[in-house]
Amino acid sequence: RRPVTTAKLKKMKEEGTPISIITAYDYPSARLAEEAGIDAILVGDSLGNVVLGYDSTIPVTLDDMVYHSRAVARAAQTAFVVTDLPFMTYHGSVDQTLRNAARIMQEGCAKAVKMEGGTEIAAAVEACTKAGIPVMAHIGLTPQSIHQIGGFKIQGKSTEQAKKLLEDAKALEQAGAFAIVLELMTDQLSEHITAELSIPTIGIGAGPHCDGQVLVFHDALGYASDIVPKRMVKEYAQVGNIIREGLKQYADEVKQRRFPLPEHSFQMEDQVAEFLYG
Ligand code: KIV
Ligand code: NA
Repeated sequence: RRPVTTAKLKKMKEEGTPISIITAYDYPSARLAEEAGIDAILVGDSLGNVVLGYDSTIPVTLDDMVYHSRAVARAAQTAFVVTDLPFMTYHGSVDQTLRNAARIMQEGCAKAVKMEGGTEIAAAVEACTKAGIPVMAHIGLTPQSIHQIGGFKIQGKSTEQAKKLLEDAKALEQAGAFAIVLELMTDQLSEHITAELSIPTIGIGAGPHCDGQVLVFHDALGYASDIVPKRMVKEYAQVGNIIREGLKQYADEVKQRRFPLPEHSFQMEDQVAEFLYG
């Protein structure tokens, strides 16, 4: 496989080839995604929920994102790595936004950043794009604004809301975003936005008409995720059960002295033992 690029992702939209994206936060998960042939890996700030144990993405820091991004980048040979800019790291001055995005690229070794929001972040998207930092946008349900939105509600249900989301999507494309995540909205709205844009749309809880799909690693694989399986998530495996069973068996064998056995351990040469202990 050749490395996936922003140009390739755009071409996939044009050719009608769906784009597969999964989140990952460390080396082994990214390696497995790479081996599975996933097109792009998102180092999402969902890190806060599924890896760090917070109850939202808000406590996640830029340092957290840099640290996890580096681990993912080491495993991603061909998958395109995009890293979330966390809460409030792209709402200050353009200069501060550029510095923060630059850290994700230079220290985190990501190939692009992702930002949540509509027209209000268009200037930040434009500044990054002009500086050579590709930006993936994210509209609809935007978890960093969860306390403002007031819960995980389907977005764009009223005419007004739908109109605003379409305007946001167009403004973000205009500002230079290379792709846009559409989270938690009706099939009809995401289909319309997808048709109106020339950049790929990546859906999560946004129906089958997007140019690609993204899921959170732990949700999609049943890996000790707290999130009660939502309608929008499909669980493709239950790795949590496999890991728990393996750990139980290990703990039992230690308690019963059935591990380690001679084949797991090392014996001293006879003459050395004799010399030491007689
Ligand atoms: O943080 C994340 O995992 C995300 C995706 C759900 C789009 O932003
Ligand atoms: Na995110």
